[in-house]
Amino acid sequence: MNEVCQCGDEDAQPNAPPEGCQHYADLSDMPWDIQKYYHQRYSIFSQYDEGIWMTEDAWFGVTPEPVARKVADHVAEAAPESKGILIDCFAGVGGNVIAFARSGRWKRVYAIEKDPKALACAKHNAEIYGVQGRISWYEGDCFSILWNELADLAEHSVIFASPPWGGPGYRSDAVFDLAKMQPYTLLDLVMPFQEFANDVVLYLPRTSDMRQLAAQPSGGSKMVVMHYCIEGASKAICAYFGAFTFR
Ligand SMILES: C[S@@+](CC[C@H](N)C(=O)[O-])C[C@H]1O[C@@H](n2cnc3c(N)ncnc32)[C@H](O)[C@@H]1O
Repeated sequence: MNEVCQCGDEDAQPNAPPEGCQHYADLSDMPWDIQKYYHQRYSIFSQYDEGIWMTEDAWFGVTPEPVARKVADHVAEAAPESKGILIDCFAGVGGNVIAFARSGRWKRVYAIEKDPKALACAKHNAEIYGVQGRISWYEGDCFSILWNELADLAEHSVIFASPPWGGPGYRSDAVFDLAKMQPYTLLDLVMPFQEFANDVVLYLPRTSDMRQLAAQPSGGSKMVVMHYCIEGASKAICAYFGAFTFR
């Protein structure tokens, strides 16, 4: 039997996802334009069959689990020991934030997401992975929430940010112009995040213009860029700004 869980449905189950969140148990239930992602479901979330919820946008924005785990390992190892708080500013449906919480490195993980549907998915998915209790959730704009609600944590925090990769050329251009990334350019991200907490990790397209990254001040330290690959092909990069130490 095909099972699509979505709220608003007369026959909705008690644990059915709210409107805008779905768990597709069969390819044929998915809208055609996202069907190509269905075969990737277990590399996105290995526990997909436990009832993972996704929004339609999340299928192409989520960080796949093996990449999220490797990024979480690197951030855990390389961040200054004095830092005990991890803030994920663009939590989406939880791909990265779940991996950070699972790493066990952080006293507390904070997740900010402005889309209530994505946030509902992230909370639910964190429960599936057994880490819901390690994460504090905030719905709204990360730039406001950092300063208005989390300012006391700034000096203890590492910021992770996987922004939307909108704008012309992310898929087609050999080199992606980070000054045209939408809705936030490289500068829109680096300046406020580094002002808040010196140690900032940006998750960006693999084709990002390295010259633009290299031109950013990095809190007095060397900036490191790491490629994250699946089956030998780069999927994305992380740019590490601040006092990260890779051994
Ligand atoms: C690429 S997705 C993040 C994916 C996430 N790392 C994951 O694995 O699920 C970017 C997310 O940022 C959210 N977003 C965009 N602008 C935001 C803002 N100003 N504050 C908080 N969240 C924002 C979007 O709603 C979207 O869910």
